[in-house]
Amino acid sequence: MKKKYSILLLATLSIVTFIALIPTISAKSSNLSDSQFELKPLPYAYDALEPYIDKETMMLHHDKHEKAYLDNLNKAISKYPELYKIGIEGMLKDLNSVPEDIRETVKNNAGGVYNHEFFWSIMSPEQNQTPAGDLLKAINKDFQSFDNFKAKFKEAALGRFGSGWAFLVKDKDGKLSIISTANQDSPISQGLTPILGIDVWEHAYYLKYQNRRGDYIDNWWNVVNWKQAENNYSDKK
Ligand SMILES: [Fe+2]
Repeated sequence: MKKKYSILLLATLSIVTFIALIPTISAKSSNLSDSQFELKPLPYAYDALEPYIDKETMMLHHDKHEKAYLDNLNKAISKYPELYKIGIEGMLKDLNSVPEDIRETVKNNAGGVYNHEFFWSIMSPEQNQTPAGDLLKAINKDFQSFDNFKAKFKEAALGRFGSGWAFLVKDKDGKLSIISTANQDSPISQGLTPILGIDVWEHAYYLKYQNRRGDYIDNWWNVVNWKQAENNYSDKK
């Protein structure tokens, strides 16, 4: 009889201990999922931007190039896990808060991830959209006309020597301007809000357009997601 009670007591204690441990186990699991930035899937099919941007370019661009930035970023900040909580956008907005020994790596690779996620979002399978609403009014105001804006944007994208980006950005006062950044430098590190942007690294166009960056830029207008650009301008997600 005594032995039966002992077994019962032991079993009860085990259950109580297990229940007490559940929060610890869950917390550990959620810490694990917070300990790596993960590659977000492309928001549409790889061939959705055909014929202007080909499937193979999109596969390599997303699965290999963006993934490499992500892997390098995870590797660099593995020794400063508190940075995971600050997040990619947070780090890029305040690069001086990133430890100096990894600051350049974070700038390049967090920038690589941020800029590419932005780039995917600013293109759409719903092709041949046109700008409208407040964004179009602001473009006409700050660039005189939409055609003039397109010409200036192309000039910036073509004029970027080597690898980089051209962006339409908004400053704190809501004024639009066109900038070009080198490598993976992101407008948000300069306190600017990107409205739309084009990747002019050769990996973005070489398979289809070879050295003809101008043709790539001309064709890219057909897949611009003007609805998303309008949301970016209005600060809607
Ligand atoms: Fe790229």
